Amino acid sequence: MSVKVAPSILAADFANLQSEVQMLNQSEADFIHVDIMDGIFVPNISFGIPVVEAIKRHAEKPLDVHLMIQHPDQYLQAFRDAGAQIISVHIEACPHLHRTIQAIHSLGAKAGVAINPHTPVEALSEILKDIDLVCMMSVNPGFGGQKFIENTYHKVRKLKEMILDSGSRAEIEIDGGVNSENASKLIELGADILVAGSFVFKSNKPLKTISELKG
Ligand code: DX5
Ligand code: ZN
Repeated sequence: MSVKVAPSILAADFANLQSEVQMLNQSEADFIHVDIMDGIFVPNISFGIPVVEAIKRHAEKPLDVHLMIQHPDQYLQAFRDAGAQIISVHIEACPHLHRTIQAIHSLGAKAGVAINPHTPVEALSEILKDIDLVCMMSVNPGFGGQKFIENTYHKVRKLKEMILDSGSRAEIEIDGGVNSENASKLIELGADILVAGSFVFKSNKPLKTISELKG
């Protein structure tokens, strides 16, 4: 099975959101990755719930919502109502991660845990069997268009081993700086989903770029 691709709408032209979403509908993308930034957990603000609702009105692909926010528990219901099919929260923002994951599942969404570049994959050992996805940050969260952090490779290798050993169903999503140069190595090491923002939306032929990422 080929890798799944989740273009990040953060890199889209927000003045033409409808046509950007329609372009993704026609593409081979598997998800639309939706980055929510609160200006507190990360040093940038993206957009909020009404924009997610607007994307959902046109999207024919499931929304993969990445919450880079403090106190995500307060907003899970709202993002689910807005159309999120996958909701990922940051381990660094969740002191009661197990409870947060239960809450996401009780809303009928898939639950993901995102980890920052400095967070060791071992921090996931006690939650791995309860989650559907690990969103491994390969840049410091907060901005699109950053350079891929090479240390990610060995984290993917380790995480894949942990997943296989524990019998977890969790998929590995790589988020940040993904392009055609690092994609094949990431896939080889065990990545299941590649998020790509700038690489897709800054491309002259985004449909072709998405299709090439899928290999
Ligand atoms: C970073 C976001 C990423 C970002 C990816 O904070 O979580 O999803 O949009 O964008 P690129 O592919 O441009 O690094
Ligand atoms: Zn993201």
